[in-house]
Amino acid sequence: MSCMTEYQPPSYPNNLLQKDWSKRKIHYLSERLDFIRKVHYVEVFPDDVWLVTYPKCGTTWMQELLWLVMNDFDFETAKREHLEVRTPFMEFDYAISNDLENCFKPIERLKRPRLVKSHLCLPLLPHQIWDKKPKLIYVARNIKDAMVSEYYHSRNVGRAAGRSLDEYVRDEIEGTQLHDPFLHFTEFYALRHEPWLFYTSFERMKLDLRQVINDVCHFLDKTIDEATMEKMLKHLSFEEMKKNPKTNHVWEFDQVRAKKGINQTPQEFNFVRKGRMNAYREELSPDMVSKIDKWVEENLKELNVSLDELLLLNDLTNK
Ligand code: A3P
Repeated sequence: MSCMTEYQPPSYPNNLLQKDWSKRKIHYLSERLDFIRKVHYVEVFPDDVWLVTYPKCGTTWMQELLWLVMNDFDFETAKREHLEVRTPFMEFDYAISNDLENCFKPIERLKRPRLVKSHLCLPLLPHQIWDKKPKLIYVARNIKDAMVSEYYHSRNVGRAAGRSLDEYVRDEIEGTQLHDPFLHFTEFYALRHEPWLFYTSFERMKLDLRQVINDVCHFLDKTIDEATMEKMLKHLSFEEMKKNPKTNHVWEFDQVRAKKGINQTPQEFNFVRKGRMNAYREELSPDMVSKIDKWVEENLKELNVSLDELLLLNDLTNK
């Protein structure tokens, strides 16, 4: 498992959330502290769109959706160019290159308005986000499905190291986490009514993708006609995205495998995997499910919010 260090950013989003930030525990990878310090000062433009998620919550799905909405539904380019090249993951380049000088080049080179993806929690994001308030989209997901998804992802990049799913999840719960999922979700959830922030969930995308596309268009001041909506629904369907090499992070995984010396052909994995709600029930043992449920309940009780609230499943009729 990676070595984590407690880390305090140079400043906190006091203007967004009133809380005692000195008590907010943040951990980051020990070998990447120089990188995370530099992230704090990354330049942000007011016309940027930032997609922020806890890992495995449907980032890729929303990323493809957003890129299309922002680029006049240019399906041709979307089918031709890898998603992560069109809309880079801010933390990726440094993880591969360890080049502190050039690691933000992929986002700096983007034509504006840029679409940038990040998995960082609110206080670790560039501080200009808090002040300039570019449009930000946040996607939450049931943590049990996200953890199962993360396990398969980790196996693909050689991180699960012979562990079973239950063992992997137990280690995640008991160990120090890269991102505390509960604070990651709740800090953005608390901002969900801000006009510059659109908060949604994987579950809402599964239950009514058309509505989420409409909401995103509205949020980004774009319009969509019925024929384009039909094309979007098809292009973003699980079946289409599963067979689309441009949305399966082939480009990204090739670089990760090359760096780690993993000899596994891309055919042996599919990033777009099961794509279902509550599929954890078929994969985790009942004992592990109750262990996670207890962990979730304890943490959310402290934060005074329910899982249904975080996934926006309690107010479906009001939307
Ligand atoms: P599963 O592993 O549960 O299948 P992220 O992009 O944040 O890493 O999230 C990956 C998860 O989103 C995976 O979940 C993946 O299958 C799912 N996903 C990606 N595209 C999807 C789509 N079009 N429909 C449903 N799920 C999708």
